[in-house]
Amino acid sequence: MGDARELLGAIEPESIALSFWSPPYFVGKHYEKHLDFDEWKNLIKEVIKQHFPIMKTGGFLVVNIADILCFKDEKMPRIQAHNIRRMRTVTIEDVLKAQAKHPNYNRYQLAELLGCSEQTIDRRLRGNNVRGGKYGTQTRVKVVGGLIEEWGNTAGFYLYDRRIWSKDPAWQNSPWHTLSYRSVDEFEYIYTFWKPGVTKIDRNRITRKEWSEWGSRGVWKIASVRSNDDHPAKFPLELAIRIIKLLTSAGDIVLDCFIGSGTTAAASILEGRKYIGIEIDEKYVKLAKKNCKRTLQELSSSNRDLSLYDEIHSSH
Ligand SMILES: C[S@@+](CC[C@H](N)C(=O)[O-])C[C@H]1O[C@@H](n2cnc3c(N)ncnc32)[C@H](O)[C@@H]1O
Repeated sequence: MGDARELLGAIEPESIALSFWSPPYFVGKHYEKHLDFDEWKNLIKEVIKQHFPIMKTGGFLVVNIADILCFKDEKMPRIQAHNIRRMRTVTIEDVLKAQAKHPNYNRYQLAELLGCSEQTIDRRLRGNNVRGGKYGTQTRVKVVGGLIEEWGNTAGFYLYDRRIWSKDPAWQNSPWHTLSYRSVDEFEYIYTFWKPGVTKIDRNRITRKEWSEWGSRGVWKIASVRSNDDHPAKFPLELAIRIIKLLTSAGDIVLDCFIGSGTTAAASILEGRKYIGIEIDEKYVKLAKKNCKRTLQELSSSNRDLSLYDEIHSSH
């Protein structure tokens, strides 16, 4: 347990076959709130830099990130002029009064009643305005994928590949729509960096069917994790399993230095790889350990040969 920047240096040099992680994205989650943008950049840059000596030559560093950020910008011109008809401001008091009078109304009915959009109702009630509205300060978009590429290159890696993880939008089953031309965030990137050296290309790691369904494909359609009740930003087990199966062999060591709920560790156990996980928050360390234990139990009840897993578990 601890800060990745302090613990990565303790890992044996040239020992990691694959490092796969999803860092704090700088989108306001509780575990990144203390960072400003420069501090966030320094964190990711430093973590990537510290990977180079501990990775095996020919090994891979794989970073999963939603690379689009938004920053309020007072100087950004408005994309749209104020619409006078819509300028009748609906206040939080208006919404609460309407709600008290019609307690069974949903936000669409409230919007119709008050002559505004359902987004306005939502914003008034929850104070949220994720990607900027017509009357608030404009938000400028910043794509950070280029920064990740630059930090990987500076550390000595080569950017080897880039895939897209296409998720279902969280509101897929609701009539949500946007009043701007901006899209809904429904995919993330997977950047694969290579540490130069001989790499074993073993096409037998996955089946012929898996090669055609996802191994050679640039877009991976995997539903996002819906039950984020114990951790707010888990990636799906399937995502970690694919990366591990594709880029490592049985017995290899897989690292996740932002391990959160332990998804990468669980996938490593399932695929017979050893793992190292780093996490700064004690409650997630406990959660990750619990997930590893449960995964091992599920494996043992499925009657698989566990000799390798005994070794994995006792060594970490
Ligand atoms: C995007 S989440 C990773 C979620 C994980 N992939 C999963 O499936 O559960 C990032 C994690 O990094 C942790 N974290 C943030 N800063 C850290 C640091 N400096 N060192 C280690 N862990 C950190 C957070 O507590 C959080 O659990």
